[in-house]
Amino acid sequence: MVLSGIWKRYENSKEPLPPNLFFSHNKEVPPEDVQEICASVGWSRREPALITRALQNSVAVVSAWDDKIMIGFARATGDKVFNATIWDVVVRPSHQRRGIGMLVMHELLKELDTYEIPLVTLYADPGTDGFYRRFGFMADPSGVRGMFREKL
Ligand SMILES: CC(C)(COP(=O)(O)OP(=O)(O)OC[C@H]1O[C@@H](n2cnc3c(N)ncnc32)[C@H](O)[C@@H]1OP(=O)(O)O)[C@@H](O)C(=O)NCCC(=O)NCCS
Repeated sequence: MVLSGIWKRYENSKEPLPPNLFFSHNKEVPPEDVQEICASVGWSRREPALITRALQNSVAVVSAWDDKIMIGFARATGDKVFNATIWDVVVRPSHQRRGIGMLVMHELLKELDTYEIPLVTLYADPGTDGFYRRFGFMADPSGVRGMFREKL
C-alpha cells in the first residue's frame, strides 16, 4: 500500500479507489495478465513468453491490483545510469479516471529515482500529453524529435 500525499488526494476523490488496491514492483507478474490488460485498451496481444522476457529485461515494472485483477500497469527500460524510457502505461477502462494511472506513474518514477537516472523519456499516444505533463514531461523545447525504425 502507498500512503503518500498523492494517494491521500485520490482517496478523497469522487470515485473511490478499490478497497483492496495494492501496487507491486515484481517483474514476475503473470504475462497473461499483462497481455489481457493491454488488450483491454485495444493494444495488440503479445505472446506471453515474450512478455515474460521483456519484463525480466526491464529496469522497473509496476502493476496495480484490485485484489486478484490487474487494473494498472507500466514499465521502463534503460541502463540504470544515464536514461530510461517508459512503456506500456495502461489502466483498465473500468478503472480509468480514478487516479490509478497517476499512482502507477508515481510508483514507477519513484523506483527510477532510486537509480538517480537524469533523463526519463516516453512516447505519448495522441491525447495523452496532458496526463504526462502532470509529471513534468514535455516535448523537447530545443526541437529534438523522437524517431522510429520499426522492423517489420
Ligand atoms: C492514460 C491512462 C493511463 C490514464 O490513466 P487514468 O487512471 O485514467 O488516469 P488518472 O485517473 O490517474 O488521471 C490523473 C489525471 O490525469 C487526467 N487524465 C487522465 N487521462 C488523461 C488524458 N488522456 N489526457 C489528459 N489528462 C488525462 C485526469 O483527468 C486526472 O486529472 P485530475 O487529477 O485533475 O482529475 C489511461 O487513460 C489509459 O490506460 N489509456 C489507454 C492506454 C493509453 O493510451 N496509455 C498511454 C500510452 S502512451
